[in-house]
Amino acid sequence: AAIEKGNFDHFMLKEINEQPKTILDSLRGRLNAEQGYITLSGLDKIEEKLRQAHRIVIVACGTSWHAGLIGEYLIEELCRLNVEVEYASEFRYRNPIISPQDVIIAISQSGETADTLVALENAKKQGATIFGIVNVVGSSIARITDAGAYTHAGPEIGVASTKAFTAQVAVLQLFALKLAQLRGTVDPAFFRQLLHELEAVPAKVAWILDTQVEAIRTIARRYKEADNFLYLGRGYNFPIALEGALKLKEITYIHAEGYPAAEMKHGPIALVDEKLPVVFVATKDVYHEKIVSNIQEINARKGKVVAVVSEGDETVNDLAEAVMVVPQAHEIVAPLLSVIPLQLLAYYIGVERGLDVDKPRNLAKSVTVE
Ligand code: G6P
Repeated sequence: AAIEKGNFDHFMLKEINEQPKTILDSLRGRLNAEQGYITLSGLDKIEEKLRQAHRIVIVACGTSWHAGLIGEYLIEELCRLNVEVEYASEFRYRNPIISPQDVIIAISQSGETADTLVALENAKKQGATIFGIVNVVGSSIARITDAGAYTHAGPEIGVASTKAFTAQVAVLQLFALKLAQLRGTVDPAFFRQLLHELEAVPAKVAWILDTQVEAIRTIARRYKEADNFLYLGRGYNFPIALEGALKLKEITYIHAEGYPAAEMKHGPIALVDEKLPVVFVATKDVYHEKIVSNIQEINARKGKVVAVVSEGDETVNDLAEAVMVVPQAHEIVAPLLSVIPLQLLAYYIGVERGLDVDKPRNLAKSVTVE
């Protein structure tokens, strides 16, 4: 049957709103917070390889590459294993060093991205083991993997990826936690705490969708004429800054850059003037104090600060022109929440500018040619 938009104006908005369910679907049958375990049969299948792996290489493109960057932080922190994240298009051409002790994680919504597929074929020839995090069942990438975990986000029609991204991040969380348990690199009490944190994510995403839309629409109206945006974040929220900027570029055609917040002083700060909106992903985590001082630096240069903040935290209210609120969460699961307002912001600015948000110019849902 044809997939319908239902009560939504666009597929993108429908897919953003599906996320409480799609994240739940990607965790379903895999996460048992009560009993304190994770089942990931794909991971069991390559368990020995993973135990002996010298490193993990994550290969992806576009939004899936941003999920991969979060995966790097997760696996390094929880599993104490070396991780590299590669753009598939670079990895396939530069004769990378690959050994049979490497495990490659391939991340792809469509499972048909040509660069990713060829990069994997090359790695496979050199003996690497491939684990797939793929949305489309039976796709080309799914078929060449040795093992994997489907994301179960359902068909994604909007060209700009939303629900597929959060499903990828959710599966990476499961993967990192399960591998950490196998490797004995995570404290059991902390492991259980994180399982509960993950289990709570779908309801927290629903809370954002229920309470923040009006505030985000107001921000969209206020900044829809801007020529440039800067997105800044630290730690697990740095890839979210990249993803927020990518969503804005794709949907609104406004130039946007994502940057690690502390790196702004090495360049992007030169762009700041009274016309530049700067979106900070400033949820309450170990970097909070540092990011607040980054916000003050932008403020002092008259940039327009917009911030994603944690519920109950009013530290940046006086420094920001506007805030988007997300529920409190452990920083490891926080990206699953902080990305939601940024998806909505891009969507509403696109709508305000009268653009075809489901089919942005020059972009394809799946890039099956070079
Ligand atoms: C295209 C799509 C993006 C997607 C990227 C990677 O550029 O427009 O939304 O992130 O391809 O696609 P994949 O299907 O491999 O995740």
